[in-house]
Amino acid sequence: MEAIQPVAATDASAPSTRRKRVAVLFGGRSSEHAVSCATASSVLRAIDRDAYDVIPIGVTRTGRWVLAADDPERWAISAGVLPEVKDGDGPGVIAPVQTGDHALQVLEPGQVPRELGQVDVVFPLLHGPFGEDGTLQGLLELTDVRYVGAGVLASAASMDKAVMKVMLKGAGLPVGEYLVVRPGQWQRDPEAVRDDVEELGWPVFVKPARAGSSVGITKVDGPDELDAAMAEALRHDRKLVIEAAVVGREIECAVLQAADGSCATSLPGEIEFVGEHTFYDFEAKYLDDATKLSCPADLPDEVIARVRELSVRTFEAMNCEGLARVDFFVQADGSVVVNEINTMPGFTSSSMYPRMWAATGLAYPELIDRLIQTALGRPTGLR
Ligand SMILES: Nc1ncnc2c1ncn2[C@@H]1O[C@H](COP(=O)(O)OP(=O)(O)O)[C@@H](O)[C@H]1O
Ligand SMILES: [Mg+2]
Repeated sequence: MEAIQPVAATDASAPSTRRKRVAVLFGGRSSEHAVSCATASSVLRAIDRDAYDVIPIGVTRTGRWVLAADDPERWAISAGVLPEVKDGDGPGVIAPVQTGDHALQVLEPGQVPRELGQVDVVFPLLHGPFGEDGTLQGLLELTDVRYVGAGVLASAASMDKAVMKVMLKGAGLPVGEYLVVRPGQWQRDPEAVRDDVEELGWPVFVKPARAGSSVGITKVDGPDELDAAMAEALRHDRKLVIEAAVVGREIECAVLQAADGSCATSLPGEIEFVGEHTFYDFEAKYLDDATKLSCPADLPDEVIARVRELSVRTFEAMNCEGLARVDFFVQADGSVVVNEINTMPGFTSSSMYPRMWAATGLAYPELIDRLIQTALGRPTGLR
């Protein structure tokens, strides 16, 4: 690994032509640890090294930050083996700890912390809880560090499917029928929950309010299967969302915000799954060759226009920034329902978000550059 040279913290205020320093954060505490490592692999390979100094920081499954290898191969999914950040992957890293302090420090056992220097911007390539949910964003806000993507509120609200739906409905966006099961409600009054579910009609999807990658989600065809599905979802979150099934094609659209706040949308893409998967579950997403991704999706022009329009409205309704992927169901009559928004969508070079941009004429290295430039160009603090 090439040694990373410290940069004096005073560089922040002085006009400088030095390369911007980007801390790439990946791994993390959520169930999407491995896919986050795979994203880091792609980004480390593609980022413009003439424009940026890169500091790769791996976050272990227990939440420890380590100075990680700047090595795309190390973090790739190869031969079916899932990459993982381990304690021994490098010395510990201490995040900036006070307002205006953009300095990272390296901690080696038995030694005084060593200055690693200032970061100009953090690129959080983290999915799910403790990365995509506003917690990391809050830490960075506290210390005035710029970062790519949505802020605290948008991250937290988009991660929580119950809150997201309230906000989308409030903005007049089309969402499917659903109900929220509050913490403890199923234990206190299962019959009331059963009655509410009956009203939605079968099948339903039972989901943890805050998870991701389809973790904990079950498609339930009838009342006999409800208990098991509730138990499974409750393993991941105390709050649940139960949705009526929407019959339609799964269409996604990428939103990219420029430094001036304007939003561009990609051509939509489509996900289809084959074999025994009845929905886009965890295995279909990562483990099997069960998924077919089409970019751009074969859709009538008016549906494409509607999906793009709803993507920007969803992005804005959630107060998102930088990037997001908005996921839809397009029903047989052409009507479009918003399923969800992801503030840090899958971002390997072969993931849907970059692929949809590639199909729209924006290549992966350029996409990375735009995201970093947008983040550098926006102020910290309330925005
Ligand atoms: N209401 C629904 N109707 C039909 N399919 C659904 C519904 N909700 C979820 N699914 C299926 O489950 C998948 C995962 O659900 P989603 O809400 O997107 O969770 P995650 O945030 O984990 O991606 C969807 O891509 C879709 O295949
Ligand atoms: Mg989804």
